[in-house]
Amino acid sequence: MTDHLTVVDHPLVQHKLTIMRKKTTSTSEFRQLLKEITQLLAYEITRELPLTTTTIDTPMEEMDAPILAGKKMALVSILRAGNGMLDGVLELVPSARVGFVGLYRDEVTLEPVQYYFKVPQQISDRMVIAVDPMLATGNSSVAAVELLKQAGATDIRFLCLLASPEGVARMKEAHPDVPIVTASLDRQLNEKGYILPGLGDAGDRMFGTQ
Ligand code: URA
Repeated sequence: MTDHLTVVDHPLVQHKLTIMRKKTTSTSEFRQLLKEITQLLAYEITRELPLTTTTIDTPMEEMDAPILAGKKMALVSILRAGNGMLDGVLELVPSARVGFVGLYRDEVTLEPVQYYFKVPQQISDRMVIAVDPMLATGNSSVAAVELLKQAGATDIRFLCLLASPEGVARMKEAHPDVPIVTASLDRQLNEKGYILPGLGDAGDRMFGTQ
């Protein structure tokens, strides 16, 4: 992946995102749409997975057919909102191993505080896809990627639903080697670090908390 930021402007993604943004959208609808959009974004982020060929018999004849070359994948959820993106990717790549990074945002400093870290073995051999719906200040994303690098990861991609210009710039400065795939680059952050126009608190909206 060469571009640092890829905004997936596919009509299905954009339509589903509009429904997610609406404040009247229910928790169950929000979760379902997040899963569906995640699968469409995952299609983009896995575009460069290496292929090899295997010989198979179709009902008509023998052919050399493409299959994944077996590059191992680790899917890492940045808790807690990242969990809403796990199932979508896992349905597409059931063999992926799953890790978790627990960071919460201090509401005053907006700085990330780590409380959990568990990732698959041999993370250095894997394509790592870190998932978090909201790339807002970038503080937690930068910290999560830093932890993944410290654990040995070298091939990391970042998958999010919405990104802010501030968050993208922060990630580019700290981790220029980590491509970002998102459904939208929104206008700006507000003074509390929320994305505008955004969709509110993604964790609250998917889990029905306040
Ligand atoms: N986290 C969210 O859930 N929403 C935002 O707008 C910013 C960070």
